[in-house]
Amino acid sequence: MLRGPRRPLWLSFLLLLLPGAPGHKGAARPGEGSEQRGAGGAWPAFQGLKERLSAAGALSARYWALFSCQVWPEDCEEDEVVAKPLGWNLPRLGQQYLDILTRWYCRFQDCCDSGDCRISNNFTGLESDLRVRLHGQHVARELVLRAVRDHVETPRPDKALALSFHGWSGTGKNFVAQMLAENLYRDGLRSDCVKAFVAMLHFPHPKYVELYKEQLTGQIREIQQRCPQTLFIFDEAEKLHPELLEALGPYLGRQDPQSYKAEPSRTIFLFLSNLGGNIINEVVLNLLKAGQSREEITMEQLEPQFQAEILESTDSGFGHSRLVKESLIDFFIPFLPLEYRHVRLCARDAFLNQELQYTEEALDEIAKMMVYVPKEEQLFSSQGCKSISQRINYFLP
Ligand SMILES: *[C@@H]1O[C@H](CO)[C@@H](O)[C@H](O)[C@H]1NC(C)=O
Repeated sequence: MLRGPRRPLWLSFLLLLLPGAPGHKGAARPGEGSEQRGAGGAWPAFQGLKERLSAAGALSARYWALFSCQVWPEDCEEDEVVAKPLGWNLPRLGQQYLDILTRWYCRFQDCCDSGDCRISNNFTGLESDLRVRLHGQHVARELVLRAVRDHVETPRPDKALALSFHGWSGTGKNFVAQMLAENLYRDGLRSDCVKAFVAMLHFPHPKYVELYKEQLTGQIREIQQRCPQTLFIFDEAEKLHPELLEALGPYLGRQDPQSYKAEPSRTIFLFLSNLGGNIINEVVLNLLKAGQSREEITMEQLEPQFQAEILESTDSGFGHSRLVKESLIDFFIPFLPLEYRHVRLCARDAFLNQELQYTEEALDEIAKMMVYVPKEEQLFSSQGCKSISQRINYFLP
């Protein structure tokens, strides 16, 4: 339950006064509406808000509880159902007003340091996570940190940031996406500003692609309206229907300068796929065999073959999509195949995460459970660090 209502008195007045705020008496005059829309997008929706709010019993304890949870999530018990899947519990309109109210409130009140309760942009944390928790990915580590920091620190980015992660499964693509969510948003993947899609889970049937397109673009717009900084993650991007990729084009493209809003909006798209994974592994294997140290492998050495592979891949629409052809993807980020020593580190982390003691022997045992390829060299774990955390169960006392 809530820890006790904290509605300041002035907010009650505000709620009552909203539709009568200066310049909003009665119906908006033509011309006035567009001006207000430019100033943040919320005002037209405020027309008649009062009536709707009371009609919906919006100032009821339940509504207040939801609003309060949205603004001060720390006041809501974790397990309280009310605190989380807001969007799916509330009737649509109710949710919309709740969002508007929250955003509006956050503008006047310091919900948190950044002025928006949900965005933390902790680059110290991101840098540390990428350095300490991610293993064997020096190229991705540098690229991701630089790209995301540049984007977030640009006062008015003229385009969404789109990163495409490539590599075998278990190499850390999802892990990095999760680190980004956790360090950019206080609620991580559960944040209302973050949305993750898994191609075969969210868009499984090609015959419904029209419907998916509508849902997807609708959700993107809705979340962008709600948050000044949004993160969209597409897992299994190689399996996305070509028409869905096409539909994403406008959201990744350059923004029309005339449509600039009063407040800058930032969007980050992550596409995760195994496209190009084989070629990355091949290039890395050849460099290692030629005596180069893994940590000195550079993007310049990987890029040419790796990008060509993505463009030419015939078994997925991704390389042929508008996103790639029109250079809407800002960075293609390679995830290198993991070696025995990296798998050991993943095993160690898994023990530490569960606050369990481990022995060097146990780490070796776990690392030996993975299959290493190619047959001859037996150098790369074919599953990377996938499901390592489940494997440590065999070694528990
Ligand atoms: C940023 O992350 C670091 C490491 O996770 C943490 O110690 C620090 O408290 C965070 N800073 C903020 C402002 O949340």
